[in-house]
Amino acid sequence: MVNDPLPDHLAAFETEAAGRLDAMALAYYAGGSGNEHTLRRNLQAWSELDVWHRVLVDVGGRSTATTLLGVDLPAPVLVAPTALHRLAHPDGELATARACSATGTPMVVSSLSSTLLEDICAATRSPVLLQLYIGERRSVAEALVERAEAAGCVGIQLTVDTPVWGDRHREASTGFHLPDGIDVVNLRAHAPQPGPGATGGIGEVLGWTVSPSITWDDLRWLCGLTRLPVMIKGVCRPDDARRALDAGTVGVVVSNHGGRQLDGAPATAVALGPVARAVAAADPAATVLVDGGIRTGTDVLRALALGATAVQIGRPVLWGLAVAGQDGVQRVLEVLADDLDRSMALAGCASLDDITADLLQG
Ligand SMILES: Cc1cc2nc3c(=O)[nH]c(=O)nc-3n(C[C@H](O)[C@H](O)[C@H](O)COP(=O)(O)O)c2cc1C
Repeated sequence: MVNDPLPDHLAAFETEAAGRLDAMALAYYAGGSGNEHTLRRNLQAWSELDVWHRVLVDVGGRSTATTLLGVDLPAPVLVAPTALHRLAHPDGELATARACSATGTPMVVSSLSSTLLEDICAATRSPVLLQLYIGERRSVAEALVERAEAAGCVGIQLTVDTPVWGDRHREASTGFHLPDGIDVVNLRAHAPQPGPGATGGIGEVLGWTVSPSITWDDLRWLCGLTRLPVMIKGVCRPDDARRALDAGTVGVVVSNHGGRQLDGAPATAVALGPVARAVAAADPAATVLVDGGIRTGTDVLRALALGATAVQIGRPVLWGLAVAGQDGVQRVLEVLADDLDRSMALAGCASLDDITADLLQG
């Protein structure tokens, strides 16, 4: 591998990763829920948004720089939280964190990571956010939040689209299980539940990590518990976004979990506009992130034109990891940032502030 040139676009990473991952890891990473309608729509809906580019704009000194939660970033792109990076590469989340460090990319660490949160934070100089699930016992979430604060995390994303796990047939058909030596190490210390040994899908293996009973009360509890800024991840409705701000969050992540939860949920390219408008009306300073199917610089530009502050990418990071560990993730992040820079130039945008709604309206 060492001397192989790395792919120069994200679709090629996906193809190469598919040839390297074992069947179980590939099904777990690539699959969606139900008949995978939302998984497909996430990709398709971005490409349906035509960009009405401006011409004769001086874009010679353009910049993709932005600020998120008070931190300066080179580009409006975060690594979305995805579980179990060690299924893709032995270095797992450490490789991802080092790639984030090299590119200045924030990493949202899944609470189901296969590496300890503290070790991930130590491996990157870029901002780290913790993705949290509240399961049956609040004490597990509370302990993780304390660890995130101590480890220097800059924010928390509470995932709220998982009252139960989606029905993921690809995953189940390959007998998803935690291989020897790979575990959800952050949670195991606080909730030593049975897990390894069970097979059939994440619902059976990791069902205990989420709860069908969490409500807005739990969100208010979390916002009161921590000094870190909290967002909720998994929103598609303007009314839910407004309630999240009322509950004390600093913003929302428009997401359908990469088409892995409610099959039939709207594509995030469709849900983003209404949510972003509701959030901006309630609090212009609030943060709106989006993920799901973002694969090109033009997709990032489309998301910002619809009102997103920044985007998150999930699977492409896993493909990079599978292809070449840290180098692969780094290349994925660089390819996307370069592509955004090029799309901005071609659309007549010298800064992210120039990426406005009229670009999509013709
Ligand atoms: C393999 C995999 C594992 C994931 N694990 C988590 C997780 O632990 N927590 C979470 O909030 N979202 C999780 N997600 C959802 C991602 O954060 C994100 O919403 C989604 O991947 C974005 O779509 P994309 O993969 O099309 O970029 C996971 C997604 C994938 C593909």
